[in-house]
Amino acid sequence: MRFTEKQTYAWKHILTNPHKQKILFDGGARSGKTVVLIEYIFARAFQFPGAKQLIARKFRSSAENSVWNETIRDYAARCPASGTLFHLVDSKLKILFENGSEIIVTGLDDKERVEKVRGTQYITIYLNEATELSYQTMLDVSSRLSQKVVDSFGRMAVPKMLIDCNPRGPRHWLYSVGVLHVNPETGEPLPDAGIWARLHWSAYDNRENLSPEYLAILENYPEVMKQRMLWGKWIASEGQVYSEFQTDVHVLKPFHIPDEWTKLRSIDFGFTNPFVCLWGALDHDGNLYIYRELYQRGILTGDHAKNIRRLSGPERILMTVADHDAEERAELNANGIPTDPAEKQVLLGIQEVQKRLKEKKLFFFSSLKHTLSEMDSYTWLPPSEERNAKEEPRKMDDHAMDALRYMVMACRNGFEKSIKNLFRKCLR
Ligand SMILES: Nc1ncnc2c1ncn2[C@@H]1O[C@H](COP(=O)(O)OP(=O)(O)O)[C@@H](O)[C@H]1O
Ligand SMILES: [Mg+2]
Repeated sequence: MRFTEKQTYAWKHILTNPHKQKILFDGGARSGKTVVLIEYIFARAFQFPGAKQLIARKFRSSAENSVWNETIRDYAARCPASGTLFHLVDSKLKILFENGSEIIVTGLDDKERVEKVRGTQYITIYLNEATELSYQTMLDVSSRLSQKVVDSFGRMAVPKMLIDCNPRGPRHWLYSVGVLHVNPETGEPLPDAGIWARLHWSAYDNRENLSPEYLAILENYPEVMKQRMLWGKWIASEGQVYSEFQTDVHVLKPFHIPDEWTKLRSIDFGFTNPFVCLWGALDHDGNLYIYRELYQRGILTGDHAKNIRRLSGPERILMTVADHDAEERAELNANGIPTDPAEKQVLLGIQEVQKRLKEKKLFFFSSLKHTLSEMDSYTWLPPSEERNAKEEPRKMDDHAMDALRYMVMACRNGFEKSIKNLFRKCLR
């Protein structure tokens, strides 16, 4: 096989460069990323006897269908050393080398498999289609890059973390880590930014190995899909509900909220789905700043109440609006978080958020990773026979979005009502 020009560049300047130890190849579909990564992993297996190398994707089944069945089998089929210097163990998705090296393909979708990964040391970890994984998973597995092996010249193997993916929205953690080299939670530069390298790919980089028909399919995709899959650009998703939302306008570096600003909270209940609490503050001009989020699954409401109180600290909260579930609200109330029922009309709430975005009266702290990620992925259902365009948002990744609507509606009308109530209570 002859490398494409891009693959040759990737090999010479990035993969084999000992100073580049964390590597992201992001880009279009079928642009030649996985092929060159697999070539490189095999070369390392030959070079470093006894080396262990891991190839992981979120789901084992997709690792098997793509990396194993396509790329690895293809490599074995054209490599003359296959069957002698190494052989594939299909049932275990393992490649065993005569020199003692091993390549293990796995999924990170199962506790036992993750434990096994945790219990081993590797010289290479390749995370395939890594946008499917969480940042925490990447951190977890990258700590396993600690195997020490040498080649026949006594040179120690440099640990390598290899990552590939198709792009998503620009607020995905992998964009922060792999492209900007900043911590997605704090926005601070990564302490190891110097060893990161990123190469951006387009399907056109692999033109010589792709049919014109395939490229034509990509060229005719809807715009956002085309930008991502053909050109490999990180852009926000199609049919985005909050298309007015712009990072450089609406996302702010966290600052201290003055004590005298009015503070509110809004809550969307969930157990299997995440439970979300947002904190917002209004300045004297009526600008709303969403400054804190609690976003957690699998925790009882009473415990959330404790966390909310702890996070709020000494802040004076004028009101907390919540979804209407009576039992949950009673539970919060019993634990020191009295709530008002939220205004729940979906379209009205969305319009109100859009209006604030357009008028630049709604801002988010950059630390709110779940809320910001939902701002990107919150999309309209496509029009159908029963439904016009922009009539109904997709019920996916919408938990912080629900809480945000409640918050904004509370600022609009509930707010005055609640002040009147307060007065009434005081007068009584
Ligand atoms: N140097 C090459 N020579 C021949 N075919 C290649 C080469 N590089 C990639 N291909 C083929 O192009 C297709 C896409 O490559 P792949 O590495 O899987 O892309 P990506 O991982 O970027 O989606 C595959 O069918 C692969 O076999
Ligand atoms: Mg690939």
